[in-house]
Amino acid sequence: MKNNDNFVLRNTWYYALPSNQIKPGMMISRIFLGEPVLLVRDRDGKVSAMQDICPHRAVPLSCGRFDGQEVECCYHGWRFNSGGRCIAIPSLVEEQQMDLSRFDVQSYAVREAQGNIWIYMTDPNNPQPASEMEIPVIPGFDERSLRGASLRSRSVSQTDAARMPTHQFVEVVKFPCFVDHAVVGLMDPAHSPYVHRAWWWRNEQLHEEVKQFDASPYGFTMRRHRLPANGGRLYWLIGGGVPETEISFRLPGVRIEETTINNHRVVNLTAVTPISDTETEVTFALYWTLPWVGFFKPLIHVLVRTFLGQDRTVVEKQQIGLKYNPVLRLIKDSDMQAQWYYQLKREYARSVAERREFVNPVKGQILRWRA
Ligand code: FES
Ligand SMILES: [Fe+2]
Repeated sequence: MKNNDNFVLRNTWYYALPSNQIKPGMMISRIFLGEPVLLVRDRDGKVSAMQDICPHRAVPLSCGRFDGQEVECCYHGWRFNSGGRCIAIPSLVEEQQMDLSRFDVQSYAVREAQGNIWIYMTDPNNPQPASEMEIPVIPGFDERSLRGASLRSRSVSQTDAARMPTHQFVEVVKFPCFVDHAVVGLMDPAHSPYVHRAWWWRNEQLHEEVKQFDASPYGFTMRRHRLPANGGRLYWLIGGGVPETEISFRLPGVRIEETTINNHRVVNLTAVTPISDTETEVTFALYWTLPWVGFFKPLIHVLVRTFLGQDRTVVEKQQIGLKYNPVLRLIKDSDMQAQWYYQLKREYARSVAERREFVNPVKGQILRWRA
């Protein structure tokens, strides 16, 4: 595979930021897929996003003010509501009233669930509605079920959802690479014994792994299996039972790993967002039903930082070689998931371009590798 075939998938949902980073009345300026985006959370708790460029003279709207309802540009005071509609141009005199909709800012579809904010990035050359593909949701961790029976009778408003993020832990790390390398690194089963070498994670000996994979919506799933004693050392420590795990991947770069210990669950959502062609953000969120896991939060923090730091360090080294644009060799079976990722991505782009249904190219099979 030649690495200049790379493209960034569009008309799809990307992880924007954890809910708790943006409080009601706040605005945050970010870059996603090379586009400046202004995220705002209004007084009612609803998150919206618009282009962070004033249509008048291009000053970033984030340089202005947000009063919890309207964004005001700092240059000439044009005002926009959270949907990006231009609602006031102060310099106009009475007789100059005009159709302000010509000055609207481009807006983005945004969804918020389970403590996460997602943004739909369209293809400007072929925009497709956001409804085609939904955001990833982890079953059993919806806002309601976590908040007890007393709230069950009424629906949970956006504000409630914002105040009660349902992931108990989140860590965001920037990787200095193109999105594909971050995604492939997420699903690469052969790097662990070399990159994540640590007493608490794995021992030095390689073991043969045999895993059944199936196609799943916009991706594939490693079928539920028992964790081997060595790989699951952490879970053995905290769980006491025989842990079972299932790992799924879906476009554009979302990995969900669910581990069950007796009747409890620990779920890790990792999502990859392209910031630019040379920068990618990786968000690692954890959900759990074991109440006392929270006790270990500081420890989990250190472990996750170490783990992601190891991945980032090797990606930094990878950049040295990638500068020369080499042909990259993929082998079987340990690189099969990487190959599936490229196939899924190409098929998604093609299905959108041809305005037809997505056909999952993954065929269920058993993969074997040593790790
Ligand atoms: S540049 Fe924003 S109002 Fe003029
Ligand atoms: Fe890794």
